[in-house]
Amino acid sequence: MALTLHVNGAVHQVAAAPFASLADTLRERMGLTGTKIGCDAGDCGACTVLMEGEQVCSCLISTAQAEGKAITTIEAQHPVVDRLRAAFLAHGAAQCGICTPGMIMAAADLLGRNQNPSRRDIEDGIGGVLCRCTGYVKIIEAIADVARGTNSLAPLAEAGAAVGARIARADGVAKVAGTDKFGADSAPADALWLRAVRSPHAHARFTFGDLEAVKSAHPGLAAILTAADIPGANSFGIFPTIKDQPVLAPGFVRYRGEAVLALVGTREAVEGLADAALPIAWTVDAALIGVEAGLTEGAPALHANIPDNVLTRGYLETGDVEAGHRLGAATAEGHFRTGFVEHAYIEPEAGYALRVGDRIEVTACTQAAVMDQEEVARVIGVPMASVRIVPTACGGGFGGKLDVSIQPLIAVAAWLTGKPVRVIYSRTESMASTTKRHPSKIWAKASADTQGRFTAYEMTGDFNTGAYASWGPTVANRVPVHATGPYKVPHVKNATRAVHTHEVPAGAFRGFGVPQAAIAGETLIDDLAEQLGLDRWAIRRINAIDHGDRTPTGQVLHASAGLPQCLDAVKADYDAMVAAAEAENAKGGRIARGIGVACMWYGCGNTSMSNPSRMRITLTAGGKLTFLNGAVDIGQGSTTVLLQIAADALGLPTTDFDFVIGDTDRTYDAGKTSASRQTFVSGNASKLAGLDLRAKILALANAGPQAKLKLDGTRLTVADGEAGRVIDLATLEADETGIVLAGEGQYDPPTTVLDAKGQGIPYATYGFAAQVAEVVVDRVLGTVKVTRIVAAHDVGRAINPTLTEGQVHGGIAQGLGLALMEEYLPGRTENLHDYLIPTAGDMPDIVVKLIEDPEPEGPFGAKGVGEPALVATAPAILSAIRHATGVRMREVPVLPHKLWEALQVREAAE
Ligand code: FES
Repeated sequence: MALTLHVNGAVHQVAAAPFASLADTLRERMGLTGTKIGCDAGDCGACTVLMEGEQVCSCLISTAQAEGKAITTIEAQHPVVDRLRAAFLAHGAAQCGICTPGMIMAAADLLGRNQNPSRRDIEDGIGGVLCRCTGYVKIIEAIADVARGTNSLAPLAEAGAAVGARIARADGVAKVAGTDKFGADSAPADALWLRAVRSPHAHARFTFGDLEAVKSAHPGLAAILTAADIPGANSFGIFPTIKDQPVLAPGFVRYRGEAVLALVGTREAVEGLADAALPIAWTVDAALIGVEAGLTEGAPALHANIPDNVLTRGYLETGDVEAGHRLGAATAEGHFRTGFVEHAYIEPEAGYALRVGDRIEVTACTQAAVMDQEEVARVIGVPMASVRIVPTACGGGFGGKLDVSIQPLIAVAAWLTGKPVRVIYSRTESMASTTKRHPSKIWAKASADTQGRFTAYEMTGDFNTGAYASWGPTVANRVPVHATGPYKVPHVKNATRAVHTHEVPAGAFRGFGVPQAAIAGETLIDDLAEQLGLDRWAIRRINAIDHGDRTPTGQVLHASAGLPQCLDAVKADYDAMVAAAEAENAKGGRIARGIGVACMWYGCGNTSMSNPSRMRITLTAGGKLTFLNGAVDIGQGSTTVLLQIAADALGLPTTDFDFVIGDTDRTYDAGKTSASRQTFVSGNASKLAGLDLRAKILALANAGPQAKLKLDGTRLTVADGEAGRVIDLATLEADETGIVLAGEGQYDPPTTVLDAKGQGIPYATYGFAAQVAEVVVDRVLGTVKVTRIVAAHDVGRAINPTLTEGQVHGGIAQGLGLALMEEYLPGRTENLHDYLIPTAGDMPDIVVKLIEDPEPEGPFGAKGVGEPALVATAPAILSAIRHATGVRMREVPVLPHKLWEALQVREAAE
């Protein structure tokens, strides 16, 4: 049916179903994919457009409702939208960029109504649009700039001056224009659609009836795929020795949400066929829910090779922990719990696969292109070289897109049907089937002497890794190293287990278990301070690990151990905030203000294992300079940061470069975008590639190391003091692709394997931070509002301070969610109205202080910040709640009813 739509000032006759959502019609019928769909339920606001000048969620508007109305999308030529685009770019307000079009349209609506908005007005104006990356800080700054009439412009960097410059994201223009292509934004026109049918039971066996009859009855279906159709191995997994998760369940399921079959066909056919109409006979078995159930003596084993359901044990021991406790004048201990946490990236998993002869190509959102290549090759049963992964823009990952999800399904479907096959997970499907943060159950004990010096720390932690291994071993091994916190502790014993249950697999999520462990450790430090009559900041400063100190693994930190500087940087704020809060609280009343402090450390890179990165820069006879960068940018900014590093190493400005990101046919393996490793590990590889190409150019020009380069078309000028030489690139011998010069760099961080007691060098470097949180607690309602956070982070060197600050802002937002709001309940949490993440209005004032204690091993002194940004926030908030109320919360999230109950208990005891 043809409907008349007025979009961006033009009239369109569009063949669309009247009840199809406007968002779907804009994207699928009109190709206006700048409007994103994150939830299809009006929760996330990614689909926000203007209708008659007012913001609406276009996923909630039927196409018929929009007929005849003036619709404005991100693709519009619109003066306010243009200014917002520029401001978002200059401020670094777009990280992954999936929320950016909706955010800009919401801001345009606001500025159309209110030319002089307050911060509160801006928060309200964009309150319907969720951002999981930025913490909203730079978004609000950008909108305020436009309201003020400021012309925001990010600086350009001269050759050799990119490192440290606040240049705009190299991939930012497409993000603010809405032209960046995410997983759902492109597919061949003839692509079939795939929909996975998933188990409604946590533990069950099943048989299929006559699927051929189903297919015959539905001509739009091209295939119904089951486990029997997988051409290669029906299994995948992160670790080479643990390929335990099936692509399609082989007659039994281990968690609710596991895929049992895949419908492939026209969109109408796969979406129109209800699960209940499929002949699947289920036999439901008792499920193990929670780590206690998984560990129960005699509990059935989820995997035959793991009879006790303990996937992995992690362990660290140094000194004599019992003797250490005996040395203490004060000892604190406690039990702590955290739940599943959902990544809630705004982009659900999406992409398409295409068979090209004997090769398969997968174009999809991911954090780990080469790992996807390995897994797809495995399930298809072909060599890795027969698989090409082309990463799309990634609309947030945070660890959740480190596991394959859609890739094996669409690859198998495209391989078998010979047609391109696309899939877009619904929000519900994404939440039901993909990995989460590990729930934890931790016991910990800490001791300190009369001076407040820590004498011993001890913890045991059980982490619910769910039905499949995913990153469970990584969590179990990373936590013992970090659990003691960034402190000097002579006697330590930390033990962890990753435990299988019939729950959604837990995997990687910003911190790999360290945020959970930090909640326990930092809370006990507050206990010790209280017992010893010491200030909470002071006890941390006394014990802060410093240059030359030993970590519990026996590693000596010779450089870049900036926790003392971080603590010193927040001291004045902490003192002033504590004094103000205590003066206010002295007046009494229902509202209490509290200040908390917490520290963190985080090893950059994979734990005690090789995790190399390799980069390449090429120069063609035509003067095209290309950075071939295999590191997937999930919004954190690696495309820009690595370019800044490579550009300065080479000696040409970033604007001279073209770049290719992540395409496995064109780039080398840079490793996964995880573990806060890309700036440090791939940064070193990028620097080496730049230096390699520079050395070749200088040799060709017979120039000294200080020579300056200039690229102008095919003329490459090498100026060495008074002397100068012009290299005409067109005259150099080229390879078959036109390349005349190339530089390569490879880097693998120096680590050692940990011994049975966890001793060794697990990481080449660590990030450090101290954060101070201010909260306001309503003692009657049990509600908590975080009003201010001061965060000092030692990042070694901020390659791009704007992007570095953005990482800290976003990490704080996720830490706030972990502390106060977010808990995923398997089987119950299905959408972003069940699962609440911080909105703009939930965010406090944030002051970021970047500490640069240079890392000699890092590129220009840099190390990672992605995960460090989050770790200290939740414990700092718990510390602040305790300061406000006296209540020690040892379980997160601190939901209002839980705090209210704790307040009642405390009052009754007084
Ligand atoms: Fe907002 Fe990623 S930049 S969700």
